[in-house]
Amino acid sequence: MRIFISRDAGAVAVGADDVALAFEQAAANRGVAVEIVRTGSRGLYWLEPMVELATAQGRVAFGPVTVADVVSLLDAMAGNGRHGLRLGVTDEIPWLKRQTRLTFARCGVIDPRSVDDYRAHGGYKGLERALTLTSDQILADVTTSGLRGRGGAGFPTGIKWKTVAQASADRKYIVCNADEGDSGTFADRMIMEGDPFVVIEGMTIAGITVGATKGYIYIRSEYPHAVEAMNAAIAAARRAGYLGKRIGGSAHEFDLEVRVGAGAYVCGEETSLLESLEGRRGIVRAKPPLPAHKGLFGRPSVINNVLSFAAIPFILDNGAKVYADFGMGRSRGTMPIQLAGNIRYGGLFETAFGVTLGELVDEIGGGTFTGRPVRAVQVGGPLGAYFPRALFDTPFDYEAFAARDGLIGHGGVVVFDDSVDMAKQARFAMEFCAVESCGKCTPCRIGSTRGVETISKIINGERVAENLAVVEDLCNTMKFGSLCALGGFTPYPVLSALKHFREDFGPAPARLQAAE
Ligand code: NAI
Ligand code: SF4
Repeated sequence: MRIFISRDAGAVAVGADDVALAFEQAAANRGVAVEIVRTGSRGLYWLEPMVELATAQGRVAFGPVTVADVVSLLDAMAGNGRHGLRLGVTDEIPWLKRQTRLTFARCGVIDPRSVDDYRAHGGYKGLERALTLTSDQILADVTTSGLRGRGGAGFPTGIKWKTVAQASADRKYIVCNADEGDSGTFADRMIMEGDPFVVIEGMTIAGITVGATKGYIYIRSEYPHAVEAMNAAIAAARRAGYLGKRIGGSAHEFDLEVRVGAGAYVCGEETSLLESLEGRRGIVRAKPPLPAHKGLFGRPSVINNVLSFAAIPFILDNGAKVYADFGMGRSRGTMPIQLAGNIRYGGLFETAFGVTLGELVDEIGGGTFTGRPVRAVQVGGPLGAYFPRALFDTPFDYEAFAARDGLIGHGGVVVFDDSVDMAKQARFAMEFCAVESCGKCTPCRIGSTRGVETISKIINGERVAENLAVVEDLCNTMKFGSLCALGGFTPYPVLSALKHFREDFGPAPARLQAAE
């Protein structure tokens, strides 16, 4: 009997390790031969710990499983398969079936420690093809795919790579930004834990394209499972000849190292990340020069988010056009969207761009976990705008969100029910900025603290109209005067809360008093 249990941090947090151990013990007690494969998560987090059984019909899922269920489950698995926790054939679960998993196709399926399993599921085909192409041909594929930076800014990946490829220097670097700091996001962590080789393969393809032989993966310290998974995968890829000299039997050389951050949100900003990688405090550098011209150790560097690199193998393997055929407008391909906050079905939902916010929250997410009405949705992390229900027809698309003063960022969707106080959320945005500011520029360093004070006065009912005007003015100064996105984007949650939920600004809103 072959069963699969996730080792993803989200599954482990709700008992996956205990369940795996209980299966081992129960099987030993009964003399049943069971092979337990620890995979990543499928991303249906409300069903974790999920246990899958290999059958002739494909994998069959059961969940959420507790230690107390293990003995009866083992009996069911050895018998007719019937059990109260049975969810059916995993790939047929509607929440999973509705997705278009291009980047996350293997996540939750393979053993993330095994290169052989990765290869058995189509891994390294993208690199093998890339090794037969010239740098220009790979660049043409990446450009044609329409892939844009999945970290949040949405800059075309092909143009970024081309800039580095064309730069002349004695050394170049590939840097993977795994400092996933946005609230409600976990896609980088999930893929690093569940399919680390796809990130390695994407970075290796970037290396041979631009002429870099060394890469770094900068992972936030809050992700110890991802650090372990990436280190284990790097060692396995080296042993299998996919990292180091003569990768995949070619004349190319490329190797990777993991570096662990120290817990600063601003180190996800690329120049601050470079400072940190070079061993200094994470303070933002002024641009230009762009990292593509003068990046790590002053050399031309490709810096991309985990998901951008992870999208590359599919594009090289299946063709740029196949990827570009998904999506809408200038947002091509798929986006791994992360549903979080007060939501019934939270998890990873990869789909083509174009799905509306309403579909994501109401249909796919199933509304709030508390069962109360959805009041606000923050998209794009702590620097993203709050959307009211009236804007639920907005399609998930870089331009459509920008047109409504929002951003899709890294694809985080955080849901709030009608008990939320939006003035306090606006103040929280300023508090977050004040705590995380690197301190380099005045609008962010001072503005955020003044923002906290002024919104507090509004909440206390002090000269509300006058202070509202101060907040709006302050937001404009931060938006146009800050050096990086932290200070520059903090106005998005504040101004959107003011615009769509004005009734919450002033003395304790009547709505909330009634709810109390
Ligand atoms: P940006 O627009 O300044 O740059 C985007 C990328 O394109 C950078 O890598 C930049 O170096 C590159 N670039 C720009 N022009 C180029 C050119 N001509 N040639 C080559 N490369 C070029 O945006 P930034 O500040 O890098 O990112 C801001 C975004 O980060 C926000 O939209 C926000 O959503 C996101 N963010 C994501 C977080 C996460 O946890 N993933 C956390 C915080 C913010
Ligand atoms: Fe630093 Fe804030 Fe200025 Fe960015 S906006 S450089 S985080 S002070």
